[in-house]
Amino acid sequence: MTRRGRVALKAVAWAACLAPLGVLGYRAATGDLTANPISFVTNWLGDWTLRLLLASLAVTPLRILFRWAWPITLRRLLGLFAFSYATLHFCVWLVLDHFFAWRQMGADIVKRPYITVGMTALVLMIPLAATSTAWAIRRLGGARWQWLHRLVYVIGVCGVLHYLWLAKKANPAPYYYAAVLVVLLGIRAADWLRRRVLSVRVVAAGPSPRPSPQRGEGA
Ligand code: HEM
Repeated sequence: MTRRGRVALKAVAWAACLAPLGVLGYRAATGDLTANPISFVTNWLGDWTLRLLLASLAVTPLRILFRWAWPITLRRLLGLFAFSYATLHFCVWLVLDHFFAWRQMGADIVKRPYITVGMTALVLMIPLAATSTAWAIRRLGGARWQWLHRLVYVIGVCGVLHYLWLAKKANPAPYYYAAVLVVLLGIRAADWLRRRVLSVRVVAAGPSPRPSPQRGEGA
């Protein structure tokens, strides 16, 4: 992809990632946040956290399935936006729901499993956001950085569990998200298995025979 193409793609992604905040701001300004505004805002931000998280997890499966390389340009941006939405989602809970009642919040985190896993997901996102720069990749080294960033799978599972635990039984939405996560992780797992089998076969086949020199080649 050309430099211009990358810039245009990122500009579209920035606009798309900021749009939900714009819509929320508009709804707040026009008094359209439903009868329970705190719950509405929390849910809105939680929904977009999960969507962006799953979008960032979709980058590698898209490359595996369709050999698309262009989504890789967006992975960091999607991950950082997911983290920003998660932080806002948490801040609404911290400020509007509990108004810094630390003891009450501590009890919530311990007693309510959906808060425990939500909090786990948010805390695990911090080292990933902190090491998302090219400088951090150089400092950590590629292999260690990749290991650390596998935490994104755990975060995805925690995010979906959080929603499954808090939603009413009749609400099918968390099951849709869970299905998307299973498909995305399944594609990665299948690809990993395929590459393992291939490498085992290559090792079992031994070194390939050296091609015999062509006429006029070599000594
Ligand atoms: C990666 C982290 C997180 C994700 C992906 C996430 C996602 C979600 C989702 C999808 C919802 C439901 C939205 C709906 O019903 O439409 C939700 C609701 C909620 N989340 Fe999170 N969340 C995360 C972290 C947290 C954290 C850290 C807290 C607080 C400690 C939290 C507290 C809540 C609460 C209280 C609700 C229910 C709001 C209500 O029904 O009034 N979440 N979250």
